[in-house]
Amino acid sequence: MRLLITFTAVLAVASAQNATNRFPADFMFGAATAAYQVEGAWNEDGKGESIQDYMFHNYPEYMIGEDNGDVACDSYHQYLQDVEMLKTLNADIYRFSIAWSRVLPNGDLDFINQAGIDYYNNLIDALLANGIQPLVTMYHWDLPQALQYIGGWPNELLVDYFVEYARLLFQNFGDRVKWWLTFNEPHQFTMGYAMLGVAPSQPAPGIGDYLATHTVIKAHARVWHMYDEEFRATQNGSVGITLNMDWPEPETNSTEDAEAADRARQFVMGMFAHPIYSQDGDYPAVVRQQVDANSAAEGRPRSRLPTFTQEEIEYIRGSADFFGMNHYNTTFVTPGLTGESPSKTRDTAVITSDPVRLPWGLRKQLNWVASQYPGYPIIITENGRLNFGGRNDTDRIEYYTEYLGAMLEAINTDGVPVIGYTAWSLIDTIEWNLGFTVTYGLCEVDKTSPNMTRTPKESAAFMSEVFRTKELPSQYNLY
Ligand SMILES: *[C@@H]1O[C@H](CO)[C@@H](O)[C@H](O)[C@H]1NC(C)=O
Ligand SMILES: *[C@@H]1O[C@H](CO)[C@@H](O)[C@H](O)[C@H]1NC(C)=O
Ligand SMILES: *[C@@H]1O[C@H](CO)[C@@H](O)[C@H](O)[C@H]1NC(C)=O
Ligand SMILES: *[C@@H]1O[C@H](CO)[C@@H](O)[C@H](O)[C@H]1NC(C)=O
Ligand SMILES: *[C@@H]1O[C@H](CO)[C@@H](O)[C@H](O)[C@H]1NC(C)=O
Ligand SMILES: *[C@@H]1O[C@H](CO)[C@@H](O)[C@H](O)[C@H]1NC(C)=O
Repeated sequence: MRLLITFTAVLAVASAQNATNRFPADFMFGAATAAYQVEGAWNEDGKGESIQDYMFHNYPEYMIGEDNGDVACDSYHQYLQDVEMLKTLNADIYRFSIAWSRVLPNGDLDFINQAGIDYYNNLIDALLANGIQPLVTMYHWDLPQALQYIGGWPNELLVDYFVEYARLLFQNFGDRVKWWLTFNEPHQFTMGYAMLGVAPSQPAPGIGDYLATHTVIKAHARVWHMYDEEFRATQNGSVGITLNMDWPEPETNSTEDAEAADRARQFVMGMFAHPIYSQDGDYPAVVRQQVDANSAAEGRPRSRLPTFTQEEIEYIRGSADFFGMNHYNTTFVTPGLTGESPSKTRDTAVITSDPVRLPWGLRKQLNWVASQYPGYPIIITENGRLNFGGRNDTDRIEYYTEYLGAMLEAINTDGVPVIGYTAWSLIDTIEWNLGFTVTYGLCEVDKTSPNMTRTPKESAAFMSEVFRTKELPSQYNLY
């Protein structure tokens, strides 16, 4: 109930502000991709194997069509076409990720792959030459396999490896890159230690995913402090993390459903956001309670969720310059036990509906983030609509019209400090387990042409006007 009151208060204060169909003049628009999903060239010019390469090579059944990212969209060779598409879109910003094993094939500083550094330098320079700012994700799910052989993210030693990798990126690219994301969607990729089919496909549910979570949060905080101490004075950039959530809406007005919705929000987003962005720091109280109680009931001598020391809580709290948020849909939730025991799903104790396309969910989620974690500018780093190919994507135009409208209401009516938006995705990519069977791109990739020719879709024409004018067509139809 407390949450609902907070939300109403935010709305009441903010509704006094102006509402137009214009975005702020300095708003940053663009599109996003991730290395494994577009680059291809999986072992070219010295690139090392990642956990995605390893999994999809050894277990091809995990991707529909037994496809993989070996070639993907061949952005390693065709990146200038990607830049061309961004220009067509009138993009201010391009969110892409660096493949750790392309610059450090073994994950460690023993071998720095200059060809990999050159590739990202060329991409960054081409973007800047066209007036497009890079927004770089350091980790979009592609751990060097060499680091998985020592346990991957559940091994806390990875904090040091990640900090050293990040320092290399700041040293090589930080003169030109001003926007950094440490991790993309840790809620999703830590599932790789809870279930099969998500790399590295090492299922220890309710244990491995929590250990990975703990390492990732510490690694993020260390990188932010390292940037602060070693680079901020000369590079003056911003470092954040991207957290994802489909908005959990209570199924009914009951207190039980409101509490279930809060649990869902805290286990999906709060688990990572609360230690970093809340005023108190540490894991959300409800997460701590649920996992500790279940662990005790299971007869374990310790909680499956590790604890931070007081010193760590204070070190992690406030370790970000902005909040990266991914959002696609809304779900309806009610209390209930589901999933195996133990598991994060079981600990959450919520039954979740299938995702539904409801743009007010984005507006509510933005308001929730702004009220839970005040003081941070927000960049929506992913939002988009899948379909099954074709350039005549009126369904995607409708989705973006509605969701950009919801974002606009959050900014202009509710006063949520959203400063940027990158659509998922720039081009049709390998969508992990779904391969190329679904498409999210604003631009099509012709997989049969030798150059993997990119062509803007109708949605790209729509978005390029929004990006250019920083205005939604006035007849947008929100709800
Ligand atoms: C809202 O913004 C428009 C355009 O900038 C301006 O003309 C109008 O006076 C503003 N309204 C309020 C209530 O501030
Ligand atoms: C650092 O960047 C901010 C905006 O991102 C700008 O206002 C400020 O002037 C910059 N400072 C320096 C020293 O370049
Ligand atoms: C939920 O509350 C609203 C507003 O108080 C009310 O209009 C609505 O009928 C309630 N719905 C249910 C299912 O109780
Ligand atoms: C969003 O919901 C729609 C149904 O409204 C569904 O078709 C689509 O797959 C969902 N998208 C994601 C990313 O879950
Ligand atoms: C795209 O599809 C819509 C809806 O089916 C149709 O009205 C329109 O004519 C199509 N446009 C083109 C260029 O094919
Ligand atoms: C492919 O790209 C090369 C180099 O830019 C160009 O010379 C060639 O014409 C392109 N071929 C096609 C089929 O687009």
